[in-house]
Amino acid sequence: MKAVVLVGGEGTRLRPLTETVPKPLIPFMNRPFLHQVLDHLARYEVEEAVLSSPYLEREFHSFLDERRGPPRITWITETEPLGTCGAVVGARSLLDGTFLVLNGDVLTDLDLSALVAFHRERKAVATIALTRVDDARPYGLVDRDEQGRVRAFREKPPDLVPGTINAGTYVLEPRVLEGVPEGVAVSIERETFPGLIARGEAVYSFVWEGYWRDLGTPEAYLQAHLDALRGLVGEVPSGGPIVGKWATVHPDALVGPLVVLGPGASVGAGARVDRSVLHRGARVGEGAVVEDSILGPESEVGPGAKVRDSVLADRTKVMTG
Ligand code: GDD
Ligand code: MG
Repeated sequence: MKAVVLVGGEGTRLRPLTETVPKPLIPFMNRPFLHQVLDHLARYEVEEAVLSSPYLEREFHSFLDERRGPPRITWITETEPLGTCGAVVGARSLLDGTFLVLNGDVLTDLDLSALVAFHRERKAVATIALTRVDDARPYGLVDRDEQGRVRAFREKPPDLVPGTINAGTYVLEPRVLEGVPEGVAVSIERETFPGLIARGEAVYSFVWEGYWRDLGTPEAYLQAHLDALRGLVGEVPSGGPIVGKWATVHPDALVGPLVVLGPGASVGAGARVDRSVLHRGARVGEGAVVEDSILGPESEVGPGAKVRDSVLADRTKVMTG
């Protein structure tokens, strides 16, 4: 089976971390996150992944040059943002049957074999994986009947309601793309799914009870690390702290178990770091405290400074506080 992985969003909610690195390539447990998504596909024997991004395309090329192992990757040029359906339409000529579509910013241990089997049993044209959340506002809220048939899909509902939401993984039949023009921006959430439902097509949903998180905000990105370190995410090795290559921790420093130190990061004498992610080359000075924070590449927390619930951009320095 083939998969289209959507990696072309601007990642605005993760700024400043996504100004120079696209969201799917932000380090997760010290590797670009996209490895996680592609390894997940490989585990379910997906043979080819098709990717495109109008945003920071060059960064993806460096990533792909370094990536080894399945699935095979085909890169497509997307000069203008085509939206979540437009990007799939761009891949149409490469698709040869039932295929998967995945948002490239979701950490999940979703069982893709079970999802595809469910889709085939129901003879659906589209099957949407769902997860339960307490507040559906940032997501696509999906209303379904007892058999799992989708009655309504509402992207970014205005009211704070709990419910089953779009988990960002779909199984689709090629016919879903019929008649969608090429090269124009189309949203799968706002146009394609509501259109299929209105026409009475068999759109089904499959609720995943395992791990799921969209990494699109700093809070979620940090929480995903804490969850992984605690062993809550199937497929991700747990246990911390994780200390990257050439990272150094002074023998008198305290680094908690829920910490990831990027390559070349350093923690000085008497410093304390807990529940935090430090990117490549981030420095924590003597006696400094860092808690519940993300320190961007080459950023610095000066001697004695305190950083809590914060995100430091690339090369930022905090000298007191
Ligand atoms: N190639 C390409 N082109 N990819 C895009 C484009 C585009 O124009 N726009 C967005 N993407 C990619 C993003 O990189 C991301 O991986 C995915 O599509 C979803 O976009 P987000 O910007 O992350 O959307 P969201 O998180 O607000 O909402 C989506 O995900 C939720 C689950 O995490 C929707 O699919 C919701 O319905 C869903 O609940
Ligand atoms: Mg997202």
